[in-house]
Amino acid sequence: MEPTTPRLASRSLADVMRWSRSASAPDGRPSAQPEAAVVAPNPVRPAQVDIWQRHYNLSTEPFALTPDPEFLFPSAAHTEAMAGLKLGLWERRGLLVMVGEVGTGKTTLVYSLLSQLDPQIETSYLSNTLLSFEELLQNALQDFGVTTTSRNRLDLQTALNTFLRDCANRGKTAALVIDEAQNLTDEVFEQLRLLLNFETYKSKLLQILLAGQPELAAKLRQPNLRQIGDRVAVRCGLGPLSSTEARAYIEHRLTTAGGSLRLFTRPALGLLIRKARGIPRRINILAHNAMLFAYGREIDRVDRATMAQAVRELQGSLATP
Ligand SMILES: Nc1ncnc2c1ncn2[C@@H]1O[C@H](COP(=O)(O)OP(=O)(O)OP(=O)(O)O)[C@@H](O)[C@H]1O
Ligand SMILES: [Mg+2]
Repeated sequence: MEPTTPRLASRSLADVMRWSRSASAPDGRPSAQPEAAVVAPNPVRPAQVDIWQRHYNLSTEPFALTPDPEFLFPSAAHTEAMAGLKLGLWERRGLLVMVGEVGTGKTTLVYSLLSQLDPQIETSYLSNTLLSFEELLQNALQDFGVTTTSRNRLDLQTALNTFLRDCANRGKTAALVIDEAQNLTDEVFEQLRLLLNFETYKSKLLQILLAGQPELAAKLRQPNLRQIGDRVAVRCGLGPLSSTEARAYIEHRLTTAGGSLRLFTRPALGLLIRKARGIPRRINILAHNAMLFAYGREIDRVDRATMAQAVRELQGSLATP
């Protein structure tokens, strides 16, 4: 079946993996994604996409905008964040927070983490954060595989508590992963803090991982949210890639797709790295469009002029309201 627009809030890992392989929609994010929306118009029609991939001897699209774990490039920050989050979940530390600028790979890292977790960890992944606390609980329970019909907060909390105790009895851990957490309301943050109180005398019953843009860190520093801010047990951050890392990132994506760095001339690569300023999403948009332009021009390698055209297109679409 063709992947469709994801359901409002939650997705199972199977859904995540299916969508992460879909060709177009990044990940069904509910909030505005300015950079994701500025892909320059394709100079070739979608039906020709396979043809241009074949033209470059690629097995798949190297610079898709989907958060596909298969393409994860282990930069120093990504590796450190992955290790910290795994350990935090494994040790049942309670509240984990990952913060990073737009397009730096938070969702990709979360998808990768979810795909690698031990089956002993039951997970629920939510990315629609424009929800009331009751809606969030409902979606989390559904993703954990708990059937509930009530919309009453107390009933939902009781159902979650029962599920968490059952998990603990079976030696399992439950992790609620909330992406785009910068959009949560203060009320929801406060209620999440209370969920962290579900615990036995030995360990936290529920692990919560919040991933979001820098506004998330700012929110957790707000005086009225200090109580949850103070409970963060693991913090990690993703930032722009260095030039060396950006080059390795581009090479990694190309080789994963069956190609090589030779698809770009040195000056084209230099321009790409400079203009993307270390943001992986920007690299993907520029590299993808430049390859399509090069295909349109019937050249075998992306040269500087073609990359410059992709940069102009991106700047043009960013300038257009
Ligand atoms: N470490 C990485 N390895 C491979 N691809 C990456 C990496 N980081 C980012 N990307 C790619 O960059 C794009 C943006 O990544 P992603 O959606 O994970 O960013 P994000 O931080 O979640 O962005 P946002 O703040 O908008 O939610 C995706 O196409 C993704 O595949
Ligand atoms: Mg994201």
